[in-house]
Amino acid sequence: MGGGARILEATPESIREAADILLAGEVVALPTETVYGLAAVIGDDGALRKIFRVKGRPSCDPLIVHVLDLSGLLGLAEVGGALLDRVRRLCDAFCPGPLTFVLRKKKAVSDIITAGKKTVAIRMPSHPIFREILRRTGPLAAPSANPFGYVSPTYAEHVRASMGEEISHILDGGPCEIGVESTILDLSGKRFTILRPGAITAEMIGEVLGERAKPLRPMVSTDPAAPGMLRQHYSPRTKLRLFRESAAEILLNFGENSEKNVAIIYLSQNHGPPFGEKKWAENIFWLSEAGDWNEVARNIFALLRRLDGMEFDLICCQVPEKIGVGAAINDRLSRAAAKF
Ligand code: TXA
Ligand code: MG
Repeated sequence: MGGGARILEATPESIREAADILLAGEVVALPTETVYGLAAVIGDDGALRKIFRVKGRPSCDPLIVHVLDLSGLLGLAEVGGALLDRVRRLCDAFCPGPLTFVLRKKKAVSDIITAGKKTVAIRMPSHPIFREILRRTGPLAAPSANPFGYVSPTYAEHVRASMGEEISHILDGGPCEIGVESTILDLSGKRFTILRPGAITAEMIGEVLGERAKPLRPMVSTDPAAPGMLRQHYSPRTKLRLFRESAAEILLNFGENSEKNVAIIYLSQNHGPPFGEKKWAENIFWLSEAGDWNEVARNIFALLRRLDGMEFDLICCQVPEKIGVGAAINDRLSRAAAKF
């Protein structure tokens, strides 16, 4: 699988080359601290449309714009008064980093980016390579660099494997440090809402703003205007089932488990085979040696992709509690399993 795209090792020359390709109106896959993104300059409608085409993404699903700093954000969004104070405090605490603001857009922001919405999603990535490119190109729109609905990429090779035929260049920044997409934050109400959980948690935001998050309306999960929040997303092709404590029940329900090829993913290493049978050893995988959830987040998409490329009939994955970054991992796994 995978094809034509060149993976460029990040050097001053290749970074310049990638920026030039973007400025010429092409799309390029770039590393961020969360996941790899498929970038285009925000002023080129052709390049923006190409992002949607390459991903097979519905045009009703808006893109995130990436800027260097608060002044870049203020160039694209209408932010004043008390809202500016809230944004400034959050920027001081978390930016650059994995936090996306949904704000009222300025007129100049293309309807292709916002899918016709009045709001625009903006974030300031911390990845040094992405930032170097931004200095040369100005703001970049970039969704995760995966076919729509599939598992997000955390290595350059993931991008080549699933969209290498459609794009020409991937800049390699090594594995992504965080591994799950940015937190999406809506500040349009009196209290803030988390539209997508990430490494910056509701508790962390609440502490800075001195208020508690307003729970998301369940309706949003089926709102086609925000497909990242669709119930079904991030899915491997192999059937995926989730468990909290023990995989045994799923396996028994799966029927003749001795004849099926099942992979079991545990969060940490201190779990044994579900039925104490030796033959399971090769089918068991761990996301983190000691159950460190940041490590789990960093590894989850890569492991799902790897197992998806093997001949398993079923993947059973343990889910963390919705605490800290566990909420983001739980969210992605629940959506990934919703299809099955
Ligand atoms: O970490 C990230 O955010 C990565 C890296 C590449 O920056 N990007 C990413 O983009 O995850 P994407 O396109 O895979 O997810 C963007 C999500 C979508 O669910 C989209 O619906 C939502 O952001 N979104 C974009 N604009 C929005 C808006 N105006 N209102 C509500 N949701 C919005
Ligand atoms: Mg995505």
